[in-house]
Amino acid sequence: MVIEVIGHRGAAGLEPENTLRSIRRAIEIGVDRVEIDVRVTKDGRLVVIHDETVDRTTNGHGYVRDMTFEEIRKLDAGKGEKVPTLEEALNLTRGKVILQIELKVAEATEPTIELIEENGAEREVVITSFIHSLLKKVRYLNPAIRTGALFFDVQEDIFERTISACAEAIHIYYRNITPKLVENAHKRGLKVVAWNPDEVGDMKRIISLGVDAIGSNRPDILINLLREMGMR
Ligand code: G3P
Ligand code: CA
Repeated sequence: MVIEVIGHRGAAGLEPENTLRSIRRAIEIGVDRVEIDVRVTKDGRLVVIHDETVDRTTNGHGYVRDMTFEEIRKLDAGKGEKVPTLEEALNLTRGKVILQIELKVAEATEPTIELIEENGAEREVVITSFIHSLLKKVRYLNPAIRTGALFFDVQEDIFERTISACAEAIHIYYRNITPKLVENAHKRGLKVVAWNPDEVGDMKRIISLGVDAIGSNRPDILINLLREMGMR
């Protein structure tokens, strides 16, 4: 069984999250996919940043949606890195690894699809979101793009929700994954992706559950473990 390794926000346990430096590090480590978060600036640019404000991850203050791209670009996102554009992230990952793009806001949906289409990168990305209606929209706009529905808990109707969002995968917080969930998802043809164990003990448990992919802030630890187990 092959378990895909996803570098969360690049390799966020090793480098400033959601920066090109972090993405590059994840690629060097040997991940299969890099996960990033996308938001939109006041002037409509797609930027790679997790929170709705720049406060936690940069030396600036304020809401991403209230700042122009030029204002955001002046900030230090850690180790002298800038907040990247989605296009820069895609340019870095193309031909090397899959880019897993999490839509944090509805306004990011159409411009993200347009960028993917302009680059002919449909098979080189996966789009995820906690806002499941956006995944349905992605499927409608371009059925060639793979999608994954994000969940924290195992809700009673988790499969129905995933299927009605037209998603192929359930991406769920690793502590909430059970053997039954994986079994029932697979019976329905849905993949299960675990986010984001960072410690060996947790990784071992998740591997034993037979998930399809695992995200981590420490993809280096995960890859070493899979190698030791003869699974990579
Ligand atoms: O890949 C899932 C994970 O990224 C979702 O949570 O808060 O890190 O975006 P968050
Ligand atoms: Ca994310």
